[in-house]
Amino acid sequence: MTDSVSATSDLNFDPLWMPFTHNRYFKKHRPLDRLLVGAKGAYYTTSEGQQLFDSLSGLWCSALGHGDPRIADAVKRQVDVADFIPGFQIGAPDNFRLAERIARLAPDDLNRVFFTNSGSEAVDTALKIAVGYHRLRGEASRTRIIGREKGYHGVGIGGISAGGMVANRKMFAPMMLPGTDHLPHTHSLEHMAFSRGQPAWGAHLADELERLVALHDASTIAAVIVEPMQGSVGVVVPPVGYLQKLREICTKHGILLIFDEVITGFGRMGDWFGAQAFGVTPDLITFAKAVNNGTVPMGGVIARQGIYDAFMQGPEYAVELFHGYTYSGHPLAVAAAHATLDILEADSVPARFAALGRQLEDGVHSLRDEPNVIDVRNVGCAAAVELSPLPGQPGLRAIRLFEDALKRGVLLRFTGDAIALAPPVISTPAEIDRLIETLRASIRAVA
Ligand SMILES: Cc1ncc(COP(=O)(O)O)c(C=O)c1O
Repeated sequence: MTDSVSATSDLNFDPLWMPFTHNRYFKKHRPLDRLLVGAKGAYYTTSEGQQLFDSLSGLWCSALGHGDPRIADAVKRQVDVADFIPGFQIGAPDNFRLAERIARLAPDDLNRVFFTNSGSEAVDTALKIAVGYHRLRGEASRTRIIGREKGYHGVGIGGISAGGMVANRKMFAPMMLPGTDHLPHTHSLEHMAFSRGQPAWGAHLADELERLVALHDASTIAAVIVEPMQGSVGVVVPPVGYLQKLREICTKHGILLIFDEVITGFGRMGDWFGAQAFGVTPDLITFAKAVNNGTVPMGGVIARQGIYDAFMQGPEYAVELFHGYTYSGHPLAVAAAHATLDILEADSVPARFAALGRQLEDGVHSLRDEPNVIDVRNVGCAAAVELSPLPGQPGLRAIRLFEDALKRGVLLRFTGDAIALAPPVISTPAEIDRLIETLRASIRAVA
């Protein structure tokens, strides 16, 4: 759908409470250059007709770029065939087929798939599965969830409790799950600034899990949840050996390891999941976003077979897991996912992301000597450039940079003073060059 300037200039901005947005700032400025009315390939179109390069694939979800006719046609066909099919006590063949395909792409025996509608729901589902699993095995005291500082696991109660982004937590402290704890984050400017790929420093930070086990006792801990690569906080890359250590410690103490792969799943890391890219197999994987290119909301959890099997007890006619969403495996989301997986497989998208990521790596690291750049980091086809904050005004420099880049035709995403980049796989080498040069020009302009 396109919408013209004349149709948006008298828009009433007030009734919409925008998510994760500075509502007052946005509405005061009435920014017509930030109203998006079209999306095609690697570009958005603003209400003023300007083309913006989509440097973060939407919100990490439109990995193949926008408007791929193969996905659009699949969704259009599906809405005519069956617009909604319930998933409780009944099912659609395509849902079983999709679960089978996803299980095939997942590592080892992670072969049981539960569908949700978002990453947040996927996280809360995974946490419930972890707690239920221990209970069913006679270890009901294992309820504690260990997350990580700076972690982002969506906005459900489970996700904010396990997450470690302060602003997302502080207002809701009384609602948090009791008994969570957090590993330290792994980002250190002192030890890893300007690392290319995985930093050499920091594997020892996983040993903090031993300390938490000693503090709480393994018999109280259900699961550790981490993003293999922390995307939302600004592409914090796991140190070499860090995830391996977490795996070893979890295995030693009977703790489930959950990889939140909402951003890292389906190709972005240069392999199907971060699990394979980093060579570590978790017990549960959460996914969303790129599974169907963000076309229709969808998420899910992939569980090891043994976890699923633990639930399969009691009379056969009884429901084993009292959990599910009206829209778990919505037909339109499933149709979009099949079409997306067709493309991901046929076009070897993970390998193409790996190749594009190498160009992105060279590009972003060429920015290290630009003014106020204090870190550049990258892994797979994701990168971040971090700027020093303006004194006493954290985040403001990044807002200015974002606004400058918009004028130059590039849509950036920032967290604090870090700019995250995760372009769609269809980006050409020339577009990546342009992205880097725009970033360079904007960094200089706001210096
Ligand atoms: C790692 C991770 N988990 C969970 C979520 C939440 O996903 P959603 O916004 O679909 O609920 C996100 C969103 O960016 C994410 O990056």
